[in-house]
Amino acid sequence: KRRILTGITTSGTPHLGNYVGAIRPAIAASRRDDAESFYFLADYHALIKTGEPARVQQSTLEIAASWLACGLDPDKVFFYRQSDIPEIPELTWLLTCVTAKGLLNRAHAYKAAVDANTATGEDADAGVTAGLYMYPVLMAADILIFNAHEVPVGRDQIQHIEMARDIGQRFNHLYGGEGEKFFALPEAKIEDNVATLPGTDGRKMSKSYDNTIPLWLPAKDLKKAILGIVTDSRAPGEAKDPDTSNIFAIYQAFASAEETAAMRQAFADGIGWGDAKHKLFERVDAELAAPRARYEALVAKPKVIEQQLLAGARKARERSRELTEKLRWAVGVRDLG
Ligand code: TYM
Repeated sequence: KRRILTGITTSGTPHLGNYVGAIRPAIAASRRDDAESFYFLADYHALIKTGEPARVQQSTLEIAASWLACGLDPDKVFFYRQSDIPEIPELTWLLTCVTAKGLLNRAHAYKAAVDANTATGEDADAGVTAGLYMYPVLMAADILIFNAHEVPVGRDQIQHIEMARDIGQRFNHLYGGEGEKFFALPEAKIEDNVATLPGTDGRKMSKSYDNTIPLWLPAKDLKKAILGIVTDSRAPGEAKDPDTSNIFAIYQAFASAEETAAMRQAFADGIGWGDAKHKLFERVDAELAAPRARYEALVAKPKVIEQQLLAGARKARERSRELTEKLRWAVGVRDLG
């Protein structure tokens, strides 16, 4: 079977970018007959971004409820919290020892921090934790521990998946020679109609830019958020360029091919921004209204969700324990005759 795996960092409220980049494609993939799915809450990753325990807890609840509200069936997939799988940090160490430091120097998140420091004349590593630096190795362990083949993600994660491949390949080569392959080499799966969802200011929608549209806003707040998306100053009647428009990009991520073609035509015909935003709101709201109601009910039952996550971890650990035992032998820490 093809194994599909993806995770979301539990450092904030889930937003439309998480939904179109990861949750929606992952749930569609989990319904394939040839697939086995692993979906998880990356709570150890959250500690890289925030030192607020209450925020991690709240985010974990919200993101878990979001997966369930969007149709994830916990009996059919492996649904768990990263911190409930102790084999993940253990594998992180085994991988750390075969990962070139130079590979991590090139990671986007680390480089961005260094560039920002250099630009302001600070020491290059000022404020950079070893956790941020090691982020790609922890993520490689998430993926390799269940030997995933496909990883549905947004474009911003491609580099991390490539690093997971490199690291897995290096381990296979070092400890398996030409023979045994411990790890399958994962591939990123990107939705064609969702390049990178822009946020309300036109940059990539991201918790760190504070430009997100939360996934479960009540309809009237969702409308307000959409009406607040920045546009250029072209007036109604003037032709507009869909390919540089945030409104169009978000619309496309929620619409069928026919609807998208019709919207492209409306742009050429000079639809006003207000009209375009109303159409966008209607499309997004039509897709989210039913799961929003389920979300509200689920998020009010943290104990039920906790039980589901613990059950999911028990099931997943049957796999992670078996592989970890094999790896301990392979590296030589379990072999005294
Ligand atoms: P995170 O939590 O930043 O984002 C979760 C998922 O949402 C996608 N995404 C977007 N997609 C399209 N447009 C956007 N504006 C947008 N913003 C976010 C992300 O690409 C991602 O798929 N390191 C990961 C979490 C992680 C993980 C993993 C993912 C940890 N281990 C193993 C896959 C496999 C992260 O911080 O994603």
